[in-house]
Amino acid sequence: MERIRVRGGQRLEGSIHISGAKNAALPLMAASLLTPGTLTLSNVPKLADIATLASLLGQHGVAIDLRQNGNVVDGGQTLVLHAPSIASTTAPYDLVRKMRASVLVLGPLLARCHQAKVSLPGGCAIGTRPVDLHLKALEQLGARIELEEGYVNAEAPGGLKGGRVRFPTVSVGATENVMMAATLADGESILENPAREPEIEDLARCLIAMGAQIEGAGSERIVVQGVPELSGADHRVMADRIEAGTYMAAAAITGGALTLTGTNADTMGAVIDAFESCGVSVARCNGTLDISRRSDAISPTDITTQPYPGFPTDMQAQFMALLTTASGASTINETIFENRFMHVPELMRMGADIALQGSTAVIRGVQQLRGAPVMATDLRASVSLVLAGLAAEGETTVSRVYHLDRGYEHLVEKLSACGADIERIAN
Ligand code: UD1
Repeated sequence: MERIRVRGGQRLEGSIHISGAKNAALPLMAASLLTPGTLTLSNVPKLADIATLASLLGQHGVAIDLRQNGNVVDGGQTLVLHAPSIASTTAPYDLVRKMRASVLVLGPLLARCHQAKVSLPGGCAIGTRPVDLHLKALEQLGARIELEEGYVNAEAPGGLKGGRVRFPTVSVGATENVMMAATLADGESILENPAREPEIEDLARCLIAMGAQIEGAGSERIVVQGVPELSGADHRVMADRIEAGTYMAAAAITGGALTLTGTNADTMGAVIDAFESCGVSVARCNGTLDISRRSDAISPTDITTQPYPGFPTDMQAQFMALLTTASGASTINETIFENRFMHVPELMRMGADIALQGSTAVIRGVQQLRGAPVMATDLRASVSLVLAGLAAEGETTVSRVYHLDRGYEHLVEKLSACGADIERIAN
């Protein structure tokens, strides 16, 4: 199994192109199930999670034509998805267990075929992550749902009906599933307290281009008027705000200066504020972000993860890596997932001083991190270890690199092009 070796201490300088967003691309791909037309998605990142969903969609009967474009580092790919008919409404355990986002096929299958059988995704490293919000919301649209032998059996004889859904807590995936389902329901659906993440807006833009009638995506209330059929569309996937934030952390932790191209600063307000509060300068200009450190030291700060527009949980681990080098004590309060501190013991093996008190981490900055062999546990945790390795004295090896391949396109190439001493090594 491959590992990533980082020799720390290089100041990063240069330009990095930000890829399309994984978390936008996945629901957009699932939207192909809603139409017999052709959905063409450009700026899709080349990632393991994208390939996993492509396999699942393939067995539902979606033909996928993949066109590579551009050079290795800033290419992206175009996916042409076409499902004139649905071959199977069952999403089997073997494919769903690999990635929780597979559950996003449930709403579209139910809407188009009036039935679906989708394996429960099961637990995952960062928490129990149930799908109850998805199921309750689909029931509000008239679905009859039963759980049998690890599968969600859903049916809506005669089709889904518009309904009112009030989410008790904000869920990105449930909002996406239900918004997609409601596009083909009979009548009006009202989604209250939906997730407001930019990826929801990106999905709504695409669905509207397919003929859906959606208002309010990105706000506290989404209204969907169902239509009998959707058509194909062309859509460019939004920039990955989490990837951009990760490279901002790479610039900051190495005292470097990076220009990030292909970004959208409007989707990154809380992240940019957090970097600025640590003494990192962020200049925005037409899809480009220039990041550099204003002073020698990173200032400590206090962060609480929240649904958008708050600070994203998907940036928590990377920001913690940065704060391990700050000139004082910081806190990070994780409110979204109950077990998302698995990077803490690994960072401590690199000399970080972190104390956990329930859902809060107290991080006391240290003078110098030290390289160590460490183990990746989930996607964002893994990249936080790479970031720490960039700043550490000596060599860090990160094992279980497949976690990184789920969410970072050309991570090693992008960092080494800016001066990082980083490579993939066989075991
Ligand atoms: C999405 C993102 C993930 C991000 C998360 C929070 C994708 C593919 N993944 O995941 O990277 O970390 O949003 O921003 O976009 N919950 C329930 N019941 C449910 C659904 C969720 O209790 O039916 C809970 C979860 O356990 C979690 C919280 O709600 O504690 C938020 O989860 P949710 O927003 O649904 O995350 P995902 O859509 O899975």
